[in-house]
Amino acid sequence: MKFIVGNWKMNGNMESKDSLLKSLKNIHTDNKIVVCLPFTLLYGNNYGITLGAQDISEHTNGAYTGDISGQMLVDADVKYVIVGHSERRLYHNETNEIVCAKAKAAIKNKIIPIICIGETAEEKHAGRTMSVVKKMLLESIPKTGDYIVAYEPRWAIGSGQTPTTDEIAAVFETIYKALSGIKRENTPLLYGGSVNGDNAKQIVSIPHVGGLLVGGASLKSDTFLPIIKSID
Ligand code: 13P
Repeated sequence: MKFIVGNWKMNGNMESKDSLLKSLKNIHTDNKIVVCLPFTLLYGNNYGITLGAQDISEHTNGAYTGDISGQMLVDADVKYVIVGHSERRLYHNETNEIVCAKAKAAIKNKIIPIICIGETAEEKHAGRTMSVVKKMLLESIPKTGDYIVAYEPRWAIGSGQTPTTDEIAAVFETIYKALSGIKRENTPLLYGGSVNGDNAKQIVSIPHVGGLLVGGASLKSDTFLPIIKSID
């Protein structure tokens, strides 16, 4: 079973949500499909499709204007939440420490956090990918509870560029070894960054890749369904 997780980011409306979820309802797959929607689209008919959110507050409740708590996500029947996406690390200054606190808040509410890590283009060119990814991983994951890790090289997000198969394999081996070292080798590991219907099958065949985190191509059924069908 592979995870295929869509991340809508700040896109979509009630109509496009309805259209995608309706099309997913008719798909027969052994893989786990999750769609991470903007907060305002989480409520309402989801056609039985598993929904995720894109952020969670590390706090339980109180004076945190604009934030959304774990309990609020539970009320909306959310099962997964993306934490530490590179766009949140970049535009909202989320550190590994904050990401870890958010992952803990999710776990406390029985929501599975999808913890994102990944190097920048500069770090890659400086030959620092492995050390950066390992540090982000070990500082962002909580000590207890179930979670998923998503490796998304920042330079691959929305760029149409992906690492080579060998590069992905090397990073996943590093992540797998680091998690094995703390007895968390069963953690599902996802790849994200310019996934499409043409490269999805190849990427999920790489050792330790347990699924995909899909941005742009998850917004419409013409681009999301081919990804799902290609890895069945
Ligand atoms: P793209 O698939 O659009 O490159 O986005 C990847 C991503 O950021 C998913 O979280």
